[in-house]
Amino acid sequence: MGAGLILGIETSCDETAAAVVERGARTLSSVVASQIPTHARYGGVVPELASREHLRAIVPVMREALAVAGVALDDVDAVAVTAGPGLAGALLVGISYAKALAFAQGIPLIAVNHLEGHIHAVLLQEREEQRAAARDGEPAEAGAEAEEVLALVVSGGHTHLYVARPAAGTWSYSLVGRTVDDAAGEAYDKVAKLLGLGYPGGPWIDTLARYGNPRAVPFSFAQIKPKAHLAGKTPRTKAATTAPIAELDPRFLFSFSGIKTAVLRHVEVFGLRAEAQERARRVLAHPRPPQTREEALALCPQATLDLVASFQHAVVGDLLKKTFAAQRAVGARRILVTGGVAANRELRARFAAEAGRRGVRVSFPTPALSTDNAAMIAAAAWPRLSAGEFAPPGLTAEPSLALGSRM
Ligand code: KG4
Ligand code: ZN
Repeated sequence: MGAGLILGIETSCDETAAAVVERGARTLSSVVASQIPTHARYGGVVPELASREHLRAIVPVMREALAVAGVALDDVDAVAVTAGPGLAGALLVGISYAKALAFAQGIPLIAVNHLEGHIHAVLLQEREEQRAAARDGEPAEAGAEAEEVLALVVSGGHTHLYVARPAAGTWSYSLVGRTVDDAAGEAYDKVAKLLGLGYPGGPWIDTLARYGNPRAVPFSFAQIKPKAHLAGKTPRTKAATTAPIAELDPRFLFSFSGIKTAVLRHVEVFGLRAEAQERARRVLAHPRPPQTREEALALCPQATLDLVASFQHAVVGDLLKKTFAAQRAVGARRILVTGGVAANRELRARFAAEAGRRGVRVSFPTPALSTDNAAMIAAAAWPRLSAGEFAPPGLTAEPSLALGSRM
């Protein structure tokens, strides 16, 4: 093997991404072409448009990743690609391209689970920080970690809790908890849409929540009854299809479809619908969240800011409560929070404070590594390259690919 360079490719949802990472520890480039402007006017990802945009972007994005890294295709030791979970047509663009590239170059192809990628985003970042702190600047090679971690993957498609264990250089994963319906990010996006805020909703609500009273509306989460969701039932949402629910401890199950309905009811009861429709028109013309209290108030009356703040306070509180209950139950000394929603400021502050109280370590990726990217895919593939675990020639998209075993 050469320098241990992996070219990562990620096309599972609405970002076309390519990155070059050395030995799972040093990011030479990470290029992300976002399709947000394409999907924003529909208030959500349109799968057919996503595939078309990936087809358009994949070659230039891959070329840019090589150029920024300053490496030629011939220097690359392996290609890593997201095999699932995600949108079938979107995944297929990345997989077909990665396959062709690996075949033409005569190098291995490694299939990566998108959720595993999100977990490795944090591990990659920590290795980068260790390397920066080390005086000789030697890459801290992936695989040196010994500690098991509890990982909360919280994004637009997932709200999943895993225990990740290092095992002889590679990692194994056990599912501890998950959402039974919507993902937390999906709730952010849907609530933002019904309040006439921009897409994706997370950054909007994150910013506006700072100007509202988080205790104005007492949203609550009921304990989930697992029996209603046992095997045999067809999952209704995209998040529900990626892992089994039966046999998981109900204390670690999430449900975010109810709070969306509660916000909708609040909007109707308080007559906020017309205001939201008017706001949606204004937001389309100025697609950036307001950055000052005055700007926020000009866009949303105080009652709406209070609603937004209360929604966020409740969602973060529920994520916090169940994650730390799982941490105690499995005895993990370390928590990773990753995925798009991990960029949320209230979430970071409250998780850090709670971890401090309990004497547990908590880590988050930088905002750029929180949302979808290919550096995390290349980093997750490094232990597989060392172990010789390559993708089968018939690799295809697996929209509902699950990660690890059940706990
Ligand atoms: O990981 P990601 O880029 O894509 C998926 O795999 O889903 O996550 C995107 C999700 C969206 O639902 C978006 O609204 C949410 O992450 N998000 C946030 C924030 N930034 C992005 N949610 C809350 N607060 C944020 N600051
Ligand atoms: Zn993701």
